[in-house]
Amino acid sequence: MAVIPVELAGRGYQVRVGAGLLADLPAQCGALLRKRAVPIVTDANVAAHWRETVDAALNGAGFAPRWLVLEPGESAKSWGTLERLMDWLLAEEVERGDHVLALGGGVIGDLTGFAAAILKRGCGFVQLPTTLLAQVDSSVGGKTAINTAAGKNLVGAFHQPSLVLADLGTLDTLPAREMGAGYAEVIKYGILGDPAFFAWCEANGPAVLAGDRAAQEYAVTESVRAKARVVAEDERETTGMRALLNLGHTFGHALEAHTGFSDRLLHGEAVALGMVLAARYSARRGYISAADAGRIAASIASAGLSSEVSALGLNCDGATLVAHMLHDKKMDAGTLPFVLLHGIGTAFLDKAVSLEDVAAFLEIELRAH
Ligand code: NAD
Ligand code: GLY
Repeated sequence: MAVIPVELAGRGYQVRVGAGLLADLPAQCGALLRKRAVPIVTDANVAAHWRETVDAALNGAGFAPRWLVLEPGESAKSWGTLERLMDWLLAEEVERGDHVLALGGGVIGDLTGFAAAILKRGCGFVQLPTTLLAQVDSSVGGKTAINTAAGKNLVGAFHQPSLVLADLGTLDTLPAREMGAGYAEVIKYGILGDPAFFAWCEANGPAVLAGDRAAQEYAVTESVRAKARVVAEDERETTGMRALLNLGHTFGHALEAHTGFSDRLLHGEAVALGMVLAARYSARRGYISAADAGRIAASIASAGLSSEVSALGLNCDGATLVAHMLHDKKMDAGTLPFVLLHGIGTAFLDKAVSLEDVAAFLEIELRAH
């Protein structure tokens, strides 16, 4: 097991990465479980695979697991489900000093984390991420949110978990498409800040996706280390440092919005395409070589992810995609910062990008290849 500290004054916590952590839940959580009843929020897919393991671990140690099992999918990050969850936590008499366990992907983690942030003005929670995306990104760093009619993640709070247990065993039951989508966020850490890790991903991506446990442990651990460093420096995304984690997200957001945030394009798949676009746009601006942009696209494609936006058949123009970007929550006082690249491993925030030029660039990408 690897242990990565997230160093935040007064709110620091550990991210533990390894196989078999759910079966060892009571010992891993220790004093965080201070009552017999243990509230656990999950979704039906995760429950089908992992509820038995969690029940056995908790019952075996004298705890009484209490479950709220939600419908799977992004629609759970809604006012309606939040209300249901809050009412359930109150009925379960969860108190400020208690911890709620969030067992699932980013949807369960974001929703449960937000509920924990506002329950009685804040109770504790533990992230038990079961998707690759959640293990390397959403469970770490304390961003919690729900979606509203106005857009994704527009209502939320920064609320750090007390502990993150990333059980690599849960990846064995994750559908291959979800693994690929999560893997995009792994490569992201290499592209934005760590050329050696990017090279490792180029060589070992297929092993991670094929279920090689040692490769998975390295990929998750290095990703979490990278995220923990950024979060420790810029917890609330005020200095520009944490904003670098949005590499690929502005272009990706436009693609997700245009496809209706649907299964047609998963978030990680959109981020993968978005990183290719950010790299090619950086080349267009002369910041990186076309060869480096090509290397990034090749690494995405070799993980089985689409690297060509033209292949999506979006039937729209560049200006339409730019219009979607203007509804992004990353808008800042009327400008839209883009994460671009000075090289593989050297991301930077460009606040002076011409949206007309981005539209012209996208026009080419939508038709090319
Ligand atoms: P998800 O939670 O919807 O999970 C994907 C699918 O996999 C679901 O159908 C789920 O039921 C299923 N699943 C989960 N674990 C499984 C397992 N071990 N075995 C079998 N099936 C399993 O999606 P996600 O990709 O994990 O997360 C996406 C969400 O994360 C989005 O809402 C996004 O906004 C959010 N997010 C948040 C942050 C953050 O910093 N808080 C960062 C990135 C993404
Ligand atoms: N996923 C981006 C962040 O946590 O800041």
